[in-house]
Amino acid sequence: MADLRIKIGSLELRNPVILASGTCGYGAELEDFMSMDQLGGIIVKGTTLEHREGNAYPRMAETASGMLNAVGLQNKGIDYFETNIYPQLAEYDTHVIVNVNGNTVEDYVDLSRRISSLDAIHAIELNISCPNVKRGGMIFGTNPGSAREVISAVRKVYDKTLIVKLSPNVTDVTEFARISQEEGADAVSLVNTLLGMAIDARTMRPKLSTVTGGLSGPAIKPVALRMVWQTARAVTIPVIGLGGIMNTDDALEFIMAGATAVQIGTASFIEPRTATMVVQGINSFLDKKDFDSVGRITGIINRN
Ligand SMILES: Cc1cc2nc3c(=O)[nH]c(=O)nc-3n(C[C@H](O)[C@H](O)[C@H](O)COP(=O)(O)O)c2cc1C
Repeated sequence: MADLRIKIGSLELRNPVILASGTCGYGAELEDFMSMDQLGGIIVKGTTLEHREGNAYPRMAETASGMLNAVGLQNKGIDYFETNIYPQLAEYDTHVIVNVNGNTVEDYVDLSRRISSLDAIHAIELNISCPNVKRGGMIFGTNPGSAREVISAVRKVYDKTLIVKLSPNVTDVTEFARISQEEGADAVSLVNTLLGMAIDARTMRPKLSTVTGGLSGPAIKPVALRMVWQTARAVTIPVIGLGGIMNTDDALEFIMAGATAVQIGTASFIEPRTATMVVQGINSFLDKKDFDSVGRITGIINRN
């Protein structure tokens, strides 16, 4: 059996497969289909300091080979999280990562500080790429100065593993990856959703209450793969790849492009066992091809 272990910052993950934020709730939703100890990690729902209702309905729309969402970071805020959700998460035998969001730099800093005191949360994923909120989110992730400011401020108060989640809605994603590395991030994850929209021609109305939303699923995979490949060549910190990964081959493509780990998002809505199937699939592939570890194929396309 091949060695599937990988390192992200100070964490050693048992395998490179992680559940993506916003698509696995707090894990409980998927427990009927898999045990969390089969996964490298789980990134729970986007969390904010305060309770958020999210955007008005409708906030999901199906598209060709993908979906648009405009959920808008609906969550009950950090107080509720700490009292009601954290105790269950602390029972999981996997790395639990919280996706951190805010309207201002101070929000991100305060929330990161709060989370750093929770022993069972091993890392944060700083979401500077949410396309579905009026303030914060993608505004930080598409402006180099703002990205630097928020990453640097969070790094000062958070000394566990810091992952920065990058937006694909930029001309050059490597610029933001370099800024993340320079400001002390341990890893970058990409991509968040691509900004898109859909119209219902019969009703002559936009399909989402917010008009625009974030596109995910197989439709975005070639764009995500290209960005992961570019980023892995531009920085030395680990790159976590995601965007339209539906099966083992998709995950292998991201790893071969240079991703140290991958995240499974929209695929879990279609087949909730995708993440564990991908773990098994990567293992079988490595065995069949006689690779003793997953590290052997990371970025292999650049060597072949
Ligand atoms: C319904 C939904 C909610 C999401 N919520 C979040 C979130 O709270 N924080 C975040 O960083 N990304 C969020 N995302 C983005 C995903 O984590 C992922 O980056 C994106 O969907 C691309 O991966 P995929 O094509 O595998 O789904 C959400 C995606 C969907 C579909």
